[in-house]
Amino acid sequence: MPRKPVRPMYWLGDALLILDQTRLPTSIVYRELRTVQGVAEAIRTLRVRGAPAIGIAAAYGVVLGLRRSASQTRSSLIQAVEEAAAELSSTRPTARNLFWALERMRATAAKHADEGKVSLLRALETEANRIWEEESLACRRMAEHGAALLPEECTVITHCNAGALATAELGTAVGVIYAAIQAGKRVRVFVDETRPLLQGARLTAWELTRAGVEVTLICDNAAAFVMARQRVDAVLVGADRIARNGDVANKIGTYNLALLAREHGVPFYVVAPTSTFDLAVTRGEEIPIEERDPREVTQPFGFPIAPPAVRAYNPAFDVTPASLIRAIVTERGVIYPPFEENIPRMMPAAASPEGPSRQG
Ligand code: MRU
Repeated sequence: MPRKPVRPMYWLGDALLILDQTRLPTSIVYRELRTVQGVAEAIRTLRVRGAPAIGIAAAYGVVLGLRRSASQTRSSLIQAVEEAAAELSSTRPTARNLFWALERMRATAAKHADEGKVSLLRALETEANRIWEEESLACRRMAEHGAALLPEECTVITHCNAGALATAELGTAVGVIYAAIQAGKRVRVFVDETRPLLQGARLTAWELTRAGVEVTLICDNAAAFVMARQRVDAVLVGADRIARNGDVANKIGTYNLALLAREHGVPFYVVAPTSTFDLAVTRGEEIPIEERDPREVTQPFGFPIAPPAVRAYNPAFDVTPASLIRAIVTERGVIYPPFEENIPRMMPAAASPEGPSRQG
């Protein structure tokens, strides 16, 4: 690979510097976020997006929230952290990593609030850095485990952006592609454009091309024909939340792709860190699905493509039933069916429903 994958954000100590993903691929614009409100706005509007990246950004958002507050007593410090966490958790309901990261930040606050504001800030910053490092390491591990599943020469389809832009580094599904190429495999990639916000076309095609990977962009509705006419060896997607039974919430259109993969005998792999699993959710129907502004469908990027008064439905995610999934690749290894038995076994203890108090 000629170039290192792009980095979606940098922590500057007093600000979070993000690559504004709404401006890609035409402009490379960085924004400095100095307030919790700024981080929440960036997550809500998809300037920062992808479940793991949202979790990391939110963790730093809590630090920024506390920095700005005048709180000094234990209870007011806790309250400031709770308010920041509440603001951030209202942004995107489906991404489990968001709530997972905020739970860790709240637990850190509860542990260190007695030590005063300066120590608490240091502890929160350390925890946010730790979350970032752990997610980076998870990306590297998932990439290795996933790359081993691909043949020496292969064609894969991916959906949305589960790449470096969506994570701490490398990516989940796209990280597998980077690692396979690094290991000397010849990988050809079809990228679904991913309506309505075109994360596949704008982000995945951009980051893979930039990294020197061979990419062919297709309309979402071309995937069946591609599977029928070309040899496709695997579908690789990320996840926003995975239920205890293996049902997977991911970008709208993932379920379509899974159905097509089954029909054409193509293995369908989900690649996600353990921070994306929600063991308190027993099945996919319980996963909260974000609904976004219908104008993203009728006027994408401000350009009207439908009659102004037409009603549109815009779920941002769908749920792929576990029965359509060949395996789920995590940093701890590859999970195969029966998922109901094998998922809980693979999870770190803190991710169990008996872990820290939870919301989301
Ligand atoms: O709405 P987005 O762009 O945040 O959706 C992102 C996805 O659906 C990704 O596939 C998912 O978050 C996994 S990213 C590693």
